[in-house]
Amino acid sequence: MENLLSVPIKDDIYYVGTNDRTTPLFEGMWPLPHGIAYNSFIIKGEKNIIVDLVRVNTVSVYLDKIKEILDGEDLDYIIINHMEPDHTSSIKAVLDIYPNAKLITNKKAVALLESYYDIDDNIEVVKDGDTLKLGDREFTFYMTPMVHWPESMVTYEAATKTLFSQDIFGGFGTLDGAIFDDQIEFTKRYLEESTRYFINIVGKYSQQALKALGRLAALDIELICPVHGPVWRDNPKRIIDLYTSLAKQETIDGCVVIYGSMYGNTEQMAEAVAKGLVKGGLKDVKIRDITKTSNSYLLSDIWRYKGVILGSCSYDNNLFPPMDYLLSEISHQRMKNNYWGIFGSYSWSGGALKTLKKYMEDGKYDVLETQPEIKGSANDEEIETLIAFGEEMAAKILNK
Ligand code: FEO
Repeated sequence: MENLLSVPIKDDIYYVGTNDRTTPLFEGMWPLPHGIAYNSFIIKGEKNIIVDLVRVNTVSVYLDKIKEILDGEDLDYIIINHMEPDHTSSIKAVLDIYPNAKLITNKKAVALLESYYDIDDNIEVVKDGDTLKLGDREFTFYMTPMVHWPESMVTYEAATKTLFSQDIFGGFGTLDGAIFDDQIEFTKRYLEESTRYFINIVGKYSQQALKALGRLAALDIELICPVHGPVWRDNPKRIIDLYTSLAKQETIDGCVVIYGSMYGNTEQMAEAVAKGLVKGGLKDVKIRDITKTSNSYLLSDIWRYKGVILGSCSYDNNLFPPMDYLLSEISHQRMKNNYWGIFGSYSWSGGALKTLKKYMEDGKYDVLETQPEIKGSANDEEIETLIAFGEEMAAKILNK
């Protein structure tokens, strides 16, 4: 009979993950308009093994799925690849029912198990490259530090050519009826949500991600089981290629103009700049209002577009506060493949452009020397200057 709650994957590997459609912000910061899946897997055999857990807010559904698959048998092991609570906060509930389960993880995770959950026994520690036989299955562990936390690791089963990749190859978005890559249209929502997930969660560690991807390239992988997003059984190369491209921050020939405006004057400057970008030959131009767009989407745009233009009104002698917050996030991301442009509105005090200029200089960003500033609303001459500024950026992007 078909499993009602869980999904068989391959050779007694089962999907027992859960969907979360109620949490509005991942990590309290990143919008989840399409929710998120917490993927967990059970491997049955001489020993029953869970690989990665789920967030505690979905534990009730999760326990039902585990019980369905184990069907009265005990749970022998839990492999913990990553300690972030979206994958571990259900651990006490699971151990309450299966107290004999031994935890398999690495030394760095041991400290976190104690600090987060006061768990300090029945743990077997593995090191990078270790192979461990658990019943009739054999696993090899590879440390992937800072992708996404210091203790992060992946687990590989050579017999089934399966990589349990934790956050690597994950994406935002629930799994709606389908869990496999060949059951979904990856060009649409899932592609956007995987891209945004990488940039928001993994982007700042892209160098470590490239290192991890380099190591994983040596493995013969037929199946990828990440802890978020679809399970890759048909075309794992597709998600590997996407992650590799994102980790390299391969940009596209386009420009995002992000502005902060109180009364529309800075917005009109952005409109003129965009006109210049298009006049200069760019077809992919986007204007974003910083006051109503989460940094999650702004950072994604900045990561992907070769050109980034920031425009801010002055607010109390300084930058518009939402722009200040965005700049602090940009600093964390350590983006390196963009051309930058800045402009500002003086209001009654000035300050915005001055602060943007200092930020660009301090961070050694590749910024255009033309940096328009207006007082009040832009006159015809200033509009022409802003259009020319957009054209200048387009020429730089298109290498004209
Ligand atoms: Fe999905 Fe870094 O946790």
